[in-house]
Formats: sequence, structure tokens, C-alpha cells
Amino acid sequence: MIHKLSNPVIKTLVNHLRETQTDALRFRHIVHELARLLSYEALGSETLEEHMITTWQGEQTFDFIKEEDLLFVTILRAGLPMIESVTALFPKASSGFLAMKRDEKTHQSVLYYDRIPECRGKTVIIVDPMVATGGSLCDAITVIKNKSPKKIISLNIIGSPEGLAVLEQKHQDVELYIAQVDEKLNGNMFIYPGLGDAGDRAYNTPE
Ligand code: PRP
Repeated sequence: MIHKLSNPVIKTLVNHLRETQTDALRFRHIVHELARLLSYEALGSETLEEHMITTWQGEQTFDFIKEEDLLFVTILRAGLPMIESVTALFPKASSGFLAMKRDEKTHQSVLYYDRIPECRGKTVIIVDPMVATGGSLCDAITVIKNKSPKKIISLNIIGSPEGLAVLEQKHQDVELYIAQVDEKLNGNMFIYPGLGDAGDRAYNTPE
């Protein structure tokens, strides 16, 4: 299921990402913030677990998210600022990494690195800023589904209607939270109007 966020704060942050004068440092900072806002939405109904903790009033019981059951997975490299941000919220969560590159001619994603820990019993949360054709995300989901997680969530900043349609068709069971859905894919399979290539923008590499 696809959840499109409509909060004006989120819209404003996404639109700052579109500005070419937004430099790499600010770009990564905004991506950090958006990753957190998306995680608040996506984990809004997460089950809480009672923990006994020592407070200034002695031992007391309070509710916490079971962080150990969360596994964040990112797709290098544009997803790096997102995973840094969400894992800072949940230091006991584990992390996994996939590296994919879109073939510039075929526009197909090619997996060239896979380091994902055990997924059984875990809520796997994929973080990647962009869903263009949807190929990378679909492939990432397939890799993760083969490891039998409890549930898969995807947090994305910007997407195309075409890419999201592919996602809905292939992986309807995934809960996808997205900050912005743009107009279309252009002829080069880039999101239009979009923000360019998030990896290039975040790390100052030529487009
Ligand atoms: C971007 C983005 C996604 C992918 C989306 O990565 O971070 O992973 O493209 O495109 P798709 O939906 O058509 O598969 P890119 O391949 O540009 O690599 P990068 O993160 O290293 O810039």
C-alpha cells in the first residue's frame, strides 16, 4: 500500500531539494530530516513493549518500540544519509546494505553488493530517496523477501507515478511511505520535475 504524505513541512523540505543552489551538505541535512519524518509516519502504530528502567525516581516501567526487531536497509549510495538518520533514532536496530546501479542504456538496476543480515522476525525498513522506474526498489524487495522478514516498509522521498504503479503491481504487501509524487518519468527515466540524481546531489558528483 502506498501512503503519500501531504504535510506542508515535508513539501517545503522536498522543494528545497529541487533548488540547484542547495549544496551537498544542506541536501544531506534535508534528506536526514525527511527520513525522520517518514519514519514517524511509518512507525506510528508500532507495538510498544514495557521495559523496566532506572529513573531519578527509582525503577519504573515505560513503553518502548522494540528496536531490536527493526532492520534498516539502504540502497547505496543515495540512501546513505537516510539510514544514518533513522539508525540514530534506534541505536539497537540493525542495518543492511545493497548496492545497485542503473544501467544507463537499459535503465535496469544491477545489484553488485548485498550485505543484509538475518531478516526472520524483523520489520525491514528500506530507505532510498528515489523511486524512478521502481526497478531498484522492486529488486531490493525481492532480495529481502527471500530472507523471510515479518514485514517490509519502504521510506522514499520522491517518486514517479509510473514507478509507484510498478511497485503496487509487484509488491502490494509492502507499506510504502513517500514524501512527494511528481508528475512523470521523462525520456531518460528521470523523475520530472524531480531533483536530479539524489546520489550526485548528496555527494557532489557530476550528473
Ligand atoms: C537512484 C536512487 C534509486 C534508483 C531509483 O540511484 O537512489 O536507488 O536510482 O531508480 P529506479 O527506480 O529507476 O531504479 P542511482 O542508480 O542513481 O545510484 P546512486 O544512488 O549511486 O546515485
